[in-house]
Order: sequence, then structure tokens, then C-alpha cells
Amino acid sequence: MKTNVLMVCLGNICRSPLAEGILKSKLSSDTVYVDSAGTGDYHVNDLPDSRSIAVAKKHGLDITDQRGRQFKAEDFKKFDLIYVMDNFNYNDVISLAASIEDQEKVKLILNEVFPGENVDVPDPYQGGQQGFENVYNMLDEACTIIAKKLNA
Ligand code: 4NP
Repeated sequence: MKTNVLMVCLGNICRSPLAEGILKSKLSSDTVYVDSAGTGDYHVNDLPDSRSIAVAKKHGLDITDQRGRQFKAEDFKKFDLIYVMDNFNYNDVISLAASIEDQEKVKLILNEVFPGENVDVPDPYQGGQQGFENVYNMLDEACTIIAKKLNA
């Protein structure tokens, strides 16, 4: 059965568009539907940040088809797994959950790499290109593990 996966950060222009593009690149669209959203509404309809576009391109991925959108409570109905980038995102998304089942869909993405450690993917927005490269590498590692699980 196809799994619906949502990647969530604050702005939906830096981290979650990378997570969306990376996971899509590792799985068939027959296996998984991947989307992303932001807890904030600052960048609705915007392209991903130019630095995310650049680091994705460097690794062979084109994420320029993506546009920003805000996370909404109805997303709990559509998505089976909701991966958040940091603990702020976690609290914001959990605050919109209507049930325990909804809450159980929400996971910190780096807990795939460091189980139970609740490590954040740092927000690279205020920094330089190197921050985006670091974020790319963290998300690539996490998405490799997620893809293996979804293929199993
Ligand atoms: P993101 O980074 O959550 O990884 O997309 C941010 C982008 C923009 C803003 C915050 C975080 N902002 O406040 O505009």
C-alpha cells in the first residue's frame, strides 16, 4: 500500500523542501507520496530558498517544482507519517492533533538516525551555504533509513 509522508519545518522553504526532494529521489512514486509544509505562513506559494535549490542541484535533485504551503489540521487525515525538522515544529504540529493516532504520526526526522535523542535539524535560514550542505547531509542520512523502512 502507498504511504503518504509529509515533511514539515517552519517556513517550508529551506529544510522540508530538501527532505521532500531527497525522500522522493529514493523511492518509487508507486510506494510513496511525499509532500512538505511549514508551520508558519510566511512563505506560502514561494519557491524553495535559492540556497536549498542550489544544494539540491549540486546533488542532482531539482526541487523547483515545489511551492510553500502552511501545515493544516486536515493534513492529519491525508498523511500516515509526518516528519518534523525540530522540536518547535513538533510542538506546533502536535498542538493541532485531534487524537492519539494523530499524535503518533508525528516524528522528529533525526530520531531515525539518533533514536530517542530528539536532535533538531538546525534552521539554516540565517546562515550561509555550508549550513544548507550540512542540512542536506543530515536529511540524506535520515531519508536513506526512512526509504529502507518503507521498502521493507
Ligand atoms: P525553514 O527555514 O523552516 O527550514 O524553511 C526558515 C525559512 C524562513 C523563515 C524561518 C525559517 N522565516 O522566518 O521567514
